[in-house]
Amino acid sequence: MIGTDIDKAAWYLREGQVVAIPTETVYGLAGNALSQEAVSTIFSVKQRPSFDPLIIHVGRVSDIPFYAQGIPEVLRQLAESFMPGPLTLLLNKRLIIPDLVTAGSPRVAVRVPQHPVALSLLQQLDFPVAAPSANPFGYISPTTAQHVDQQLGDLIPYILDGGPCHIGVESTIVGMEAGYPTIFRKGGLSLEDIEARIGPVRVREHSTSNPAAPGMLKSHYAPGAPVVLGKPETIIAQNPHKRIGVIRFQQETPGLPEKYQLILSRSGNYREAARRLFAGMRALDAQRLDLIVAELLPEEDLGRAINDRLRRAAAS
Ligand code: TXA
Ligand code: MG
Repeated sequence: MIGTDIDKAAWYLREGQVVAIPTETVYGLAGNALSQEAVSTIFSVKQRPSFDPLIIHVGRVSDIPFYAQGIPEVLRQLAESFMPGPLTLLLNKRLIIPDLVTAGSPRVAVRVPQHPVALSLLQQLDFPVAAPSANPFGYISPTTAQHVDQQLGDLIPYILDGGPCHIGVESTIVGMEAGYPTIFRKGGLSLEDIEARIGPVRVREHSTSNPAAPGMLKSHYAPGAPVVLGKPETIIAQNPHKRIGVIRFQQETPGLPEKYQLILSRSGNYREAARRLFAGMRALDAQRLDLIVAELLPEEDLGRAINDRLRRAAAS
């Protein structure tokens, strides 16, 4: 059931049940992070392997020290500048956080979403909320309550509707590695914004070989049709009898029906592109295409996170 009743969502969460909640990045599948049972339900509803840990969400930056300790100075600076917002920090966890949440890791991922509905909900709870994106494992993340309803509606008692997500890609995950601040997942906070605040950071590229590495499972965000990266005109010419969809930053692809084209931002605005990406991929997916061709964006600003998602969609 979809609704806008924050108290109702809070009630389900206090009961140990799992509900979908809006954030500015994507919708989350939320449960009490301190309840083994609620966390187990999240894993089973999402069909997520238990080695892939969950982000905990809190309503105030000042709540973070209840769940994490020894916060490094550079990460504290990031928290100060970008929380609430599309930033997740990897911090040393306190014992109160169940190992199930962190998949046995001594570190916990923490985020303060910048969405009025999410904040109002989180601020009335006396526990943190574990929430992965509210999609079946491996599929495109949801950016509307309707997306969640289509896939998980029958499995959860409530979907809290906070409208379409403003950022549209998941949070950027930052932690320390070998003494350096390191981006473990590119996301809605750009590398440029982070470096402007704390100086150079490292970027960990994804790997399939080490699923213990954060957020790094390679094949992900995959629509039903196979996705390839490349120049649309070339691939269309090579496959004359296939029904082909195209994902592009700004440009139209002549001769292709409009409904087969996802043009992310005609004006070349990265924020608009990120906001439209996942909903656009779902709309293409509904066209029953044989193939989707995605052309990568310039590797800058939120283009990095968008390219990361396109590469992972193509990796399956
Ligand atoms: O924007 C977001 O971050 C959204 C919204 C709902 O907050 N959440 C989200 O969660 O994208 P999820 O579960 O789909 O992706 C979280 C990623 C996972 O790939 C996981 O591997 C990584 O964060 N992660 C979580 N806890 C971790 C930990 N303790 N150590 C390393 N990686 C962790
Ligand atoms: Mg996810």
